[in-house]
Amino acid sequence: MKRVTTIDLQRMRDRGEPIAMVTAYDYPTAKLVDEAEIPAILVGDSLGMVVLGYESTLPVTLDDMIHHAKAVMRGAQRAHVVVDLPFGSYQTGWQDAMRAATRVLRETGAGAVKLEGGVRVAETVRRLVEAGIPVMGHIGLTPQSVHQLGGFHVQGKTPRDAVRLIGDAKALDEAGAYAIVLETIPTALAHMITKRLGVPTIGIGAGPFCSGQVQVVHDLLGLYEDFQPRHARRFLEGGRLVREALGTYIGAVTAGEFPTADESFYMDERALALIERMTEQGSEQAGETPQPLAAEGPEAERAELYGPGAESGTPPTSRPPERG
Ligand code: KIV
Repeated sequence: MKRVTTIDLQRMRDRGEPIAMVTAYDYPTAKLVDEAEIPAILVGDSLGMVVLGYESTLPVTLDDMIHHAKAVMRGAQRAHVVVDLPFGSYQTGWQDAMRAATRVLRETGAGAVKLEGGVRVAETVRRLVEAGIPVMGHIGLTPQSVHQLGGFHVQGKTPRDAVRLIGDAKALDEAGAYAIVLETIPTALAHMITKRLGVPTIGIGAGPFCSGQVQVVHDLLGLYEDFQPRHARRFLEGGRLVREALGTYIGAVTAGEFPTADESFYMDERALALIERMTEQGSEQAGETPQPLAAEGPEAERAELYGPGAESGTPPTSRPPERG
């Protein structure tokens, strides 16, 4: 299956085709995102908050990012995958950024990295792009600067801040970023930036006039309930559904309705009889040697656990009684 590239995203933008992007941090989610034909996945450092339970993205390490990006790459065969460079891995200079980005691309197989900031990281972006590393920029509300920004607030509301953000966007475009995330800025400003750039803008809380939209998958699915950003729409009440399912599970266990016979594994009566005899007092001294049964051994066990027609080799003669 051909993987979506940065060139494909640029073509979508040039055709005026909105680009949908979503975060993912693990194999099953990446698979589902791929199946939905969403063209781009961000392995965001938001994983620190929505998966690891930190209060901000700052504690996330490069090893964390690589660990999760590898899982995402195993799940997504088609989507373009971008990986966040975490806090501290690039702010210290372009050489550190180069080391971090090369590790990400080499160890995960992902197609690009993302880093936060405008003018102040433009030189770093330029160096990475010159080295053949596609870079996605990220301006506006940049969560790695949460302490400097004084919280998770809308950015670019005053003329001075808006002009600064326009300058940041242009600097990233000129440095060779292939796309720029605009996070939590007024719609009109995002529109203005989008019209002035040659590369796609990907908005999150930046209104409908960006070239694409990115959302944190846990927000979309209602799985992160500590905080719901105003820009996030829940397309599924995942938290409620999971709670209901877990309630049903505990009910089934405590009522003795789970597992049923069909959810259990069986043993040959001859094996059971043999075990009985072997564990009877005195039989071991009598020197009885157990004979292997036809379907015994690790292969048979694996077939029973995972294989199709799991019970074909062994007649289920010791089924527990059905309950409920
Ligand atoms: O880490 C992340 O998920 C992000 C998005 C919010 C753009 O950077």
